[in-house]
Amino acid sequence: MFVISVILSIIVLHHDECNSHSMAAPVVPLPPPKALIEKGRNAKFTNSKHRMAVLVPYRDRFEELMEFVPYMHSFLSNQYVNHNIFILNQVDQYRFNRASLINAGFQLTKNNHDYIAMHDVDLLPMNTNLSYAYPENPVHLAAPTLHPRYHYEKFIGGILLINKEHFELVNGLSNKYWGWGLEDDEFYVRLKDAHLNITRPQNITTGTSDTFRHIHGTQRKRDTVKCYNQREVTRRRDRNTGLHDVKFEVASYKNMEIEGAPFTVINIHLYCNLTTTPWCDCKQQKSASNKQLQPHGKLPKAK
Ligand SMILES: *[C@@H]1O[C@H](CO)[C@@H](O)[C@H](O)[C@H]1NC(C)=O
Ligand SMILES: *[C@@H]1O[C@H](CO)[C@@H](O)[C@H](O)[C@H]1NC(C)=O
Ligand SMILES: *[C@@H]1O[C@H](CO)[C@@H](O)[C@H](O)[C@H]1NC(C)=O
Ligand SMILES: *[C@@H]1O[C@H](CO)[C@@H](O)[C@H](O)[C@H]1NC(C)=O
Repeated sequence: MFVISVILSIIVLHHDECNSHSMAAPVVPLPPPKALIEKGRNAKFTNSKHRMAVLVPYRDRFEELMEFVPYMHSFLSNQYVNHNIFILNQVDQYRFNRASLINAGFQLTKNNHDYIAMHDVDLLPMNTNLSYAYPENPVHLAAPTLHPRYHYEKFIGGILLINKEHFELVNGLSNKYWGWGLEDDEFYVRLKDAHLNITRPQNITTGTSDTFRHIHGTQRKRDTVKCYNQREVTRRRDRNTGLHDVKFEVASYKNMEIEGAPFTVINIHLYCNLTTTPWCDCKQQKSASNKQLQPHGKLPKAK
């Protein structure tokens, strides 16, 4: 109960704070808390030469977090995978941006980890053959034949392992995806364009109903709104934005535990360029048309 209230107060605190926060300031990420991360938190795995950062894009999914952290810590520990779990908590006022959170999380953790798991908070691996070992090639664990919900061949979301060199090679994920969906499809094209072979688990006898557990704290509506020219832009491959130009600020780091499982919450303010991606805040469009205002200058030209 104590941990619960601590987390709640942090999350609430930073949501409040963000309203007055100026995003014009230069972006200087703070270093992660060194002592904890340098060795990995799992002293018994010091022989392992690899270390994974579990990057979990996050906002308002408290019940899922409570279940995710202890479950994953124990699942990974059973595989002797040296890991640190990072909850990338988006605390700015913009729409959720899973891809930019992962880019930011990578930048903040890359010096102490040689691969990442991009991990949904609501998807728990149940089959112990799902290996989180160092990926020589990108490994899509939540394969279309195993994921409870998404079964199209090019699906690459849910849980993906990728090593540091490959993530840098493809310039991470596009920063243009505000709101729910499609950023993983664009990432699939990045991997293909870089001729990376995506591998999927082979020795799995379970199926779509019993390989993963899809947890839902409370049913939440997805933010599928499209505004400005979002629909058109986000259907195209993005050759410009990614890891190298993700703009963010770290509001704070909090090292915590749930049921003895350690993790770090990173409260992140993403920066949105309202000229290039005005759909990071669809409310602006409504108020602009209501009040005959164009607060953010001209819209990008439709192609
Ligand atoms: C299943 O496959 C993975 C990766 O291909 C491997 O690491 C794991 O040891 C295998 N599990 C068993 C029980 O063979
Ligand atoms: C991907 O697989 C192809 C065919 O098996 C192989 O020629 C190529 O070298 C592989 N690429 C990488 C990056 O491993
Ligand atoms: C795990 O993999 C082994 C072989 O690698 C296989 O015999 C076994 O059936 C697999 N178990 C599950 C639950 O997928
Ligand atoms: C936003 O993007 C435009 C177009 O790329 C660029 O000219 C401008 O400098 C950017 N604004 C900021 C504040 O980075």
